[in-house]
Amino acid sequence: MLTLAVFSLLLHFAIQASSPLDQVFHYIDEHQDDYVQRLKEWIAIQSESGNPTKREDVIRMMQVVGEMIKHLGGTVELTDVGNEEFADGKIIPLPPVVLGELGKDPNKTTVGIYGHVDVQPAKIEDGWSTDPYLLTEKDGNLYGRGSSDDKGPVLAWLHAIEAFQALNQELPVNLKFIFEGMEESGSKGLDELLKEKNETFLSNIDYIVISDSAWLSKKPALTYGTRGLCYFLVEVQCANQDLHSGLYGGTVHEAMTDLIALLDSLVNSTGYILIPGIDSDVMPLTDEERVLYEGIEFNLEAFKRTLDITELLHKTKEDVLLHRWRFPSLSIHGIEGAFSGPGAKTVIPAKVTGKFSIRLVPNMDPDKLSSQVTTYLHGVFAARGSPNRLRVALEYGSKAWVTNFTDKQYDAGRRAIRKVFGTEADLIREGGTIPVARTLQHTTQKSVMMLPIGGADDGIHSQNEKLSRNSYINGTKLLAAYIAEISQF
Ligand SMILES: *[C@@H]1O[C@H](CO)[C@@H](O)[C@H](O)[C@H]1NC(C)=O
Ligand SMILES: *[C@@H]1O[C@H](CO)[C@@H](O)[C@H](O)[C@H]1NC(C)=O
Ligand SMILES: *[C@@H]1O[C@H](CO)[C@@H](O)[C@H](O)[C@H]1NC(C)=O
Ligand SMILES: *[C@@H]1O[C@H](CO)[C@@H](O)[C@H](O)[C@H]1NC(C)=O
Ligand SMILES: *[C@@H]1O[C@H](CO)[C@@H](O)[C@H](O)[C@H]1NC(C)=O
Ligand SMILES: [Zn+2]
Repeated sequence: MLTLAVFSLLLHFAIQASSPLDQVFHYIDEHQDDYVQRLKEWIAIQSESGNPTKREDVIRMMQVVGEMIKHLGGTVELTDVGNEEFADGKIIPLPPVVLGELGKDPNKTTVGIYGHVDVQPAKIEDGWSTDPYLLTEKDGNLYGRGSSDDKGPVLAWLHAIEAFQALNQELPVNLKFIFEGMEESGSKGLDELLKEKNETFLSNIDYIVISDSAWLSKKPALTYGTRGLCYFLVEVQCANQDLHSGLYGGTVHEAMTDLIALLDSLVNSTGYILIPGIDSDVMPLTDEERVLYEGIEFNLEAFKRTLDITELLHKTKEDVLLHRWRFPSLSIHGIEGAFSGPGAKTVIPAKVTGKFSIRLVPNMDPDKLSSQVTTYLHGVFAARGSPNRLRVALEYGSKAWVTNFTDKQYDAGRRAIRKVFGTEADLIREGGTIPVARTLQHTTQKSVMMLPIGGADDGIHSQNEKLSRNSYINGTKLLAAYIAEISQF
């Protein structure tokens, strides 16, 4: 008993003597079960933004976030951003955007935190091993829709703040929160709101930080770029109704034959995009940039094994990553109107719509790309001499985002990573598209950094989405360390 008492006393002194940030880390470790419990409550709210029947849940989720910020002593505005109108004429309210503020000390740095608390749809029938809306812990992983994308990271911010407060440590920064509920559905209403608030709510923010992405490997990362996206539809129509191939085969110019030729003209078998001029706006790769890729931790063999792929389009780690993040890519997604069910239906589809997209990199422009694509496909079509009707349309376009990672905020991010993980950060990009990073940077003209805490294998948007307990708890420490570091700039 005596030794235990002495030990406790020593431990007590050790904690007293440790740095304020170490005390925050210790507090976070001690309260991790509470954090998991709160994540469980958040995950139980089925805030699917793409599902109009769940809009009330999204709105409730926004209220819960607002309440938590108020509980931390902040002020909150649940900002109305209007309605959403559907093709069938139905109109429902958009979830409000939570604009929160904590601290107004003019001597402190002001950090803007962006996150989202809506989720992708999920049903157990989709192939989940557990109920997607009942957080389940297994083998150190917290399974549930939104655990990694992006409820876990949003909670990690709020818990980091709570930890400073619980220890009576003054928060070293002012914080502004921008939490939305439509991220998974094109962030409807957000761009307009950000522009509207640029001179008011956003005007005194010094740095903007986003935790809504993932590490590339087991090594912590900072993300300084994302690709844009242009989604195209190419429609060919040959008749006013579907035809029987026994009656009409051999007499008509078939729409599907034209469409296959058009789709086949887009990219060759080594992944090279054949649309003329497409590379003209791609920023040239510098030698310094290539060197950066050599240092990034990425296991090509493991990557192939996960996908069960024997050979990739590119041989080296550097080239694979460059083509994933730094160069455009083209993917063909599907053909609407084509027969795709089981069995052998002898139909000649009257109208088929091919769907493909191109991931954009700096400084490609969606409008210019759209005109290059349209001109090229009309040329390929003309060369076939087909009498059918062709229509090419850009369904959706957004530009890429990239920032200069020598910016001071990235120093704060690197130092925070060193402090929590004792290792250097990998500087990475995302191959996917997160338009809000670009919107925030271009609207406010402030430094934007992505500080992910999720793992590469979290399965976001997929079945069995998870966040590991380690990522969640170490991530909370990382965000606390970032707050401490950025306050010094
Ligand atoms: C800001 O810093 C100045 C100089 O250190 C000090 O005089 C002033 O009281 C501080 N303001 C606040 C609100 O703490
Ligand atoms: C937003 O405000 C900042 C100053 O806080 C300014 O530099 C920027 O140009 C403004 N953006 C727009 C779109 O007006
Ligand atoms: C694809 O096009 C590129 C550029 O013209 C070329 O280098 C490559 O060899 C082509 N691949 C094939 C399989 O033709
Ligand atoms: C990034 O900023 C540094 C200095 O802040 C500058 O030297 C460098 O050229 C910039 N890099 C790019 C790609 O703009
Ligand atoms: C956090 O990171 C450290 C260092 O990488 C690791 O040892 C630990 O297991 C991680 N998990 C937690 C919950 O701290
Ligand atoms: Zn997300």
